[in-house]
Amino acid sequence: MSSLVEKSFIVMVLTIMLVCSSVLATKNPIQESKPCKRLVLYYHDTLFNGTDVANATSAAVANATGLDKEHKFGMLVVFNDPMTKDHHLLSPPVAKAQGFYFYDMKDAYTAWFAYTLVFNSSEHKGTLNIMGADLMNDETRDLSVVGGTGDFFMARGICTFRTDTFQGDFYFRLKMDIKLYECY
Ligand SMILES: *[C@@H]1O[C@H](CO)[C@@H](O)[C@H](O)[C@H]1NC(C)=O
Ligand SMILES: *[C@@H]1O[C@H](CO)[C@@H](O)[C@H](O)[C@H]1NC(C)=O
Ligand SMILES: *[C@@H]1O[C@H](CO)[C@@H](O)[C@H](O)[C@H]1NC(C)=O
Ligand SMILES: *[C@@H]1O[C@H](CO)[C@@H](O)[C@H](O)[C@H]1NC(C)=O
Repeated sequence: MSSLVEKSFIVMVLTIMLVCSSVLATKNPIQESKPCKRLVLYYHDTLFNGTDVANATSAAVANATGLDKEHKFGMLVVFNDPMTKDHHLLSPPVAKAQGFYFYDMKDAYTAWFAYTLVFNSSEHKGTLNIMGADLMNDETRDLSVVGGTGDFFMARGICTFRTDTFQGDFYFRLKMDIKLYECY
């Protein structure tokens, strides 16, 4: 009797495994080189320094802690920065990057970003939410696109940062290569 129960249990497990493997086999594997949508945009961060009120689009809301001398550990910056299609600061913005970053290592320049790209143009309406570590010593850094709304409904993907220019403490520009692998 008990062996009959065992047998039917084994048959059931095998059936479940077969169904699962056929489902996995028919689902297209994600290929890194083949995003379903791609956007390359430039992010301009002009930090408020006490005098550039008209031009600044970001400001430190918590200062460095003094834990280290040069890497600004603990400094938190809130931004509402323009995103442009080319690297000119004064090109018409196609989106706004709204969020924050903070410096989080005492012996190197690294930061952690969390922000939303807000699109409100005839080309795109909606948002993309991006977060992750910006390990600035690396030439390129991959952050996660964790979701989206509107034209980017339920999007997921990778946003690759590349430092385009770093002009002293008060202006830097990042090239953001946004590749989406889930598009609806
Ligand atoms: C503040 O930044 C502006 C450029 O954005 C620069 O012209 C000015 O000299 C800076 N002021 C100080 C006090 O660093
Ligand atoms: C501020 O922006 C204006 C244009 O919006 C530009 O002409 C001016 O040079 C900028 N000032 C600084 C200090 O960057
Ligand atoms: C931030 O801290 C640095 C030292 O770590 C200091 O030189 C600077 O004046 C501080 N800035 C503000 C706005 O408190
Ligand atoms: C988006 O653009 C429309 C039309 O230009 C405008 O009426 C609306 O206020 C904008 N929304 C936001 C959140 O900026």
